[in-house]
Amino acid sequence: MNTNALYYGDNLVWLRDHQYFPGESVDLIYLDPPFNSKADYNVLFNEPGKGDKSQAQIQAFDDTWDWSSEASEIALNELAKKRPSIAEFISYLSKQGKLQESMAAYLSMMAVRLIELHRVLKSSGSLYLHCDPTASHYLKLLMDAVFGARNFQNEIVWCFKTGGATERRFGRKHNIIFFYTKTTNYKFNPQKEKSYMMHEYGFKKSHFQQDEKGQYAWVIAKDWWEIPAVGSATKERLGYPTQKPEPLLEKITKASSNEGDVVLDPFCGCGTTIAVAERLKRRWIGIDVTWLAIDLVEKRIKATYGAKITSNYEVHGKPYDIASAQALANKSKKEFEIWAISLVGAHPREHDGGVDGIFGFVEKDKKTRTIIVQVKGGDVLNPGMVRDLIGTVKKEGAAIGLLITLIEPSGGMKSLAIHSETYKSELWAKEYPSIQIRTVAELLEGKTFDLPPTQSPFKNAQLAKEKAQQSHAF
Ligand SMILES: C[S@@+](CC[C@H](N)C(=O)[O-])C[C@H]1O[C@@H](n2cnc3c(N)ncnc32)[C@H](O)[C@@H]1O
Repeated sequence: MNTNALYYGDNLVWLRDHQYFPGESVDLIYLDPPFNSKADYNVLFNEPGKGDKSQAQIQAFDDTWDWSSEASEIALNELAKKRPSIAEFISYLSKQGKLQESMAAYLSMMAVRLIELHRVLKSSGSLYLHCDPTASHYLKLLMDAVFGARNFQNEIVWCFKTGGATERRFGRKHNIIFFYTKTTNYKFNPQKEKSYMMHEYGFKKSHFQQDEKGQYAWVIAKDWWEIPAVGSATKERLGYPTQKPEPLLEKITKASSNEGDVVLDPFCGCGTTIAVAERLKRRWIGIDVTWLAIDLVEKRIKATYGAKITSNYEVHGKPYDIASAQALANKSKKEFEIWAISLVGAHPREHDGGVDGIFGFVEKDKKTRTIIVQVKGGDVLNPGMVRDLIGTVKKEGAAIGLLITLIEPSGGMKSLAIHSETYKSELWAKEYPSIQIRTVAELLEGKTFDLPPTQSPFKNAQLAKEKAQQSHAF
């Protein structure tokens, strides 16, 4: 594994491909899977021209697990063959009522993946499993079964202040991170932190230093970490739900890897592990099952490290020709739409009033105007679709409407688009066709839409850049 890489698709499928993920090839794994929270998680985007006031959203992933699903059955059958004791435990749990059924489904999903992660980890490697008290007690049993109880190193408690609370119990303000190693002969760089002690017992005078908070000594970092969560005012925030703070990943990465080592995040989300690994000169691999996440990781690292970073990594599983685009459209209409939208740099909107994607541009009179995008991934097109786009552009008050099609549009559709005169009085729009059509094949060949300079929907690009220039002190 010499290159950095992002993999688009189910991590189980990728991890089982030994060509890409040979045994004993990774130094550090951090995983932050869904927690079995039974919630949907949405990504928030700012709508062009509306600032922070109006936020569009689209579902990033859902975290509900169904015991009666085919996936649970397949996973359990596999476990019954490979790890009968784990299968027995999960089956037992599934018989303890409705709540435990969904836990059993979640654990079978996790068990098959943890087995693969254990395989790809080097004998000197470490795995950090991020979870919360919803499932941490069961996950520790699972980790003991897969990694061996003697390879358990820490239960790290990440303490934060954000999030809601209820008067029915104490505020739930921590997550759990299990630190396991593959063997007892593992790599670890002890991390130090300041300890502001009230007494001087156990220290020599020369150990003490002074800062604005008082007298302190450097001590071995403890297993509970107070690191602020990513909140609405955090600079590095990208709007991705469950985004983890970079200082958390820095601590893990520095402790359990060295420069040049390979760091894998199989549930990479918006790429916190990747951004930190790049900064700390590790090689990195991220996997995510949604294009939304992979696209966001790419935007994040390009905004942080510059466009030249593209030559330093590969993206696997991304459609690169019409056949693979067709395959994606057959597999998931939503994923196809999100991918197609990303080809033009727009951001997706939950199919809302006929708008699949949206971005903006600044008019010559300094007003921000909207461009809306519709995607047609089917194999039937008709002129009514262009009329529908014209209607949506008017209804939304947008300046330009773009139609992306998987197959070639008819002559009738093209002529309708050419002759549409949606907003001829607008300044920029006078110069650009207000309704335009491109096929996926054209976009893949590099043909673009005819547009004024558009606004990046990646609102935190600049902020992410600033962040990269800061160093985090603990
Ligand atoms: C809790 S989020 C990770 C957030 C991440 N740590 C960050 O800082 O942005 C979990 C991610 O796992 C992804 N995911 C869920 N199931 C997956 C699977 N089977 N294979 C790959 N990724 C998956 C989701 O799309 C989501 O982005």
